[in-house]
Amino acid sequence: MLADSLKTLLATNFAYYIKAHGFHWNVEGPDFGELHDFFQNIYEDAYSAVDPTAEYIRALGEYTPGSMERFLELSVIPGQTKIPRARLMIEELLANSYTMVDVLNTCFADATQENKQDIANFIAERLSQQNKYMWQLRSFLKDQRA
Ligand SMILES: [Fe+2]
Repeated sequence: MLADSLKTLLATNFAYYIKAHGFHWNVEGPDFGELHDFFQNIYEDAYSAVDPTAEYIRALGEYTPGSMERFLELSVIPGQTKIPRARLMIEELLANSYTMVDVLNTCFADATQENKQDIANFIAERLSQQNKYMWQLRSFLKDQRA
């Protein structure tokens, strides 16, 4: 059901957002400046999806989850309470991005199934953004050429 998949997306995207914001605050190392800015791009974009996702749930006639407790129940990516090293931050966000893509693909399939093309269109835009970050995250992880 689309409303349920959107609730999972809302909570998972929120977990992704807060993780990227935490990494923005806490990253250290020689690439600090670049990664501080890169994580900011990611968290700002993820945050921009929170309100539209919540309001699509309302438009479908359902109430939207609005507490950390519910987000924790619904999110399919875990939070991060430690401060990983920079490379591990990138690896973790990349792994979580694959999960985000799975969640988004489910939403897209449900939106199409329920004939909600406007929501499918929004989800497609989110997939496009997510794929862009995955390419950038993978590029950060690639070893330098000799
Ligand atoms: Fe900041």
